[in-house]
Amino acid sequence: MIVALLNQKGGVGKTTLALHLAGQWASEGKRVTLIDADPQGSALDWSQQRARAGLPRLFGIVGLARDTLHREAPELARDADHIVIDGPPRIAGLMRSALLAADLVLIPVQPSPFDGWASAEMLALITEARIYRPDLAARFVLNRCAARTVIARETAETLADHDPPLLAATIGQRIAFADLAQTGRLVFEADADSMAAREIAALATEVGRLSP
Ligand SMILES: Nc1ncnc2c1ncn2[C@@H]1O[C@H](COP(=O)(O)OP(=O)(O)OP(=O)(O)O)[C@@H](O)[C@H]1O
Ligand SMILES: [Mg+2]
Repeated sequence: MIVALLNQKGGVGKTTLALHLAGQWASEGKRVTLIDADPQGSALDWSQQRARAGLPRLFGIVGLARDTLHREAPELARDADHIVIDGPPRIAGLMRSALLAADLVLIPVQPSPFDGWASAEMLALITEARIYRPDLAARFVLNRCAARTVIARETAETLADHDPPLLAATIGQRIAFADLAQTGRLVFEADADSMAAREIAALATEVGRLSP
C-alpha cells in the first residue's frame, strides 16, 4: 500500500506521522520505504541525525521531491509492503504527483473549529486525482489532540460524518514527538509503553486495515 501524508497547511504533523508510521510497520517486520517528497528534506535530515547518533536503520528513505514521483513510486512499491510518502506543504505540482501515486491519502489536522483542516484546495486536489485514480481513499487523522477538550470534541464531531472521514485513531499532544525528533529517535524506541507509542501502534493498525 502507498500511503501519502498530505496537507498544504504547514506544521500539522505530516513528517512526524510519516516517520512513525514507517517506523512502526518496519518494527512489525514489514518492508517499508519512505519517500521524502518535501524539498525541505525533513525526513532525510532525520535519517542523517539518526545515522550520526549511531542508531540502526529502520527503513529506507528516498528523496523524490519532483513531479514525476507518481511514475517512480510503483517501481519502489514492488520491493516493499508499504510505501509512506511525506508530502510538502503548498506545492500543488508535488501534491498532485503524490496523490496520483497513493492508494490512501492521510490528511493530518489539528483540533480547531475554524481553521483550514478541510480546505477547499486540498479536497479539490483529491477530487481531481480521483478522475485518474477512482479508488483513491482519503482519511483525516487528528493530531496534537488534547483529550477531553471542547475544541477536540468539536473537531471530531465536525469531521465525523465528513468526506473524507476521520480515522478513529487520534494522536495526542505529546512532547516526546518533538523532543525525540532532534535525536533521530521514534517514540516507541524511547518508551514502547508510552501513550505516544500506543497511539502510533493503533494508528498503524487502523491504517494497515485500509490496505486494498
Ligand atoms: N502529536 C504531537 N505532539 C507534539 N508535537 C508534535 C506532534 N506532532 C508534531 N509535532 C511537532 O510539531 C512540529 C511540526 O510537525 P511536523 O514537522 O511533523 O509537521 P509537517 O506537517 O511535516 O510540517 P511541514 O509542513 O513544515 O513539513 C514538529 O516540531 C513536531 O515535532
Ligand atoms: Mg514536513
